[in-house]
Amino acid sequence: MSAAHEAGKIPVRKMNFEFDAVPRDYLNGNLAFSNFFNGMNLLFPEGERFFMHAVRDGLKKIDNPSEELSQQAKGFYGQEAQHSIEHLKYFEILDQNGYQFRDELNKFDQLIIKLRKKLPVGLRLAMTAGAEHLTAIAGGVSLLDKDVVNAHPLMRDLMQWHAIEEIEHKAVAFDVYKAAYGNYFLRIFGYLIAIVLVGGYAFKFANMFMRQEGFGRWKAASLIRKSQRQVLKRNSYLTPLFFSYFKPGFHPNQVDDEHLIEQARVDLAAY
Ligand SMILES: [Fe+2]
Ligand SMILES: [Fe+2]
Repeated sequence: MSAAHEAGKIPVRKMNFEFDAVPRDYLNGNLAFSNFFNGMNLLFPEGERFFMHAVRDGLKKIDNPSEELSQQAKGFYGQEAQHSIEHLKYFEILDQNGYQFRDELNKFDQLIIKLRKKLPVGLRLAMTAGAEHLTAIAGGVSLLDKDVVNAHPLMRDLMQWHAIEEIEHKAVAFDVYKAAYGNYFLRIFGYLIAIVLVGGYAFKFANMFMRQEGFGRWKAASLIRKSQRQVLKRNSYLTPLFFSYFKPGFHPNQVDDEHLIEQARVDLAAY
């Protein structure tokens, strides 16, 4: 266990990945899964900005936030800001690989900015806590799934670094939500919206990328769905984990994923 983790701190790592050439089927030759990750990738920069604002605004609603929670929120902002920086750099590789996505991405970003500005803080925080549960689940996939473990090394490192940090800060938005609001129904409503937005847009963008590979709309959709089913089958713990969020007494730290990130942290330290 790292010293930073023992102290209950959330470390901010500046990775400065040097993206060069990345094959389009970088996830172990699995083009549909690679494009699903590309689709998710498009959500990160503006999505993570939404999360940071929600946690910051939520923290202001707590009368006397503990020093520990305030420090964890700082670690959360730092990690999410770094994720945005590195994932934005990856967009240039998508350009280099010939994909057209900037117009569609711009529409998505405008929607997220609008939601960030218009929605009440409680709902934004509930959506963020829910989305963070989804990213922690996705983090487990990045650390365990064979197609990521055997991916192009740069993409594997990008995904696993992000995975470690999503697991390290998985409880921050949830704890701020609990301290500031705590209502069960709002928490679940936020989770459902996060599922629709994250799942829906990642799928839509993945479909857009697959169509640019020459597949028709329906063929593209069926290939993406097939790759999703395979990931769920290979990692059978994912489905119960997804539904565990609906339990009234759920807390992210009930999910024991520390063992997943211990070795990955050691590997990352070699950077
Ligand atoms: Fe992130
Ligand atoms: Fe996160």
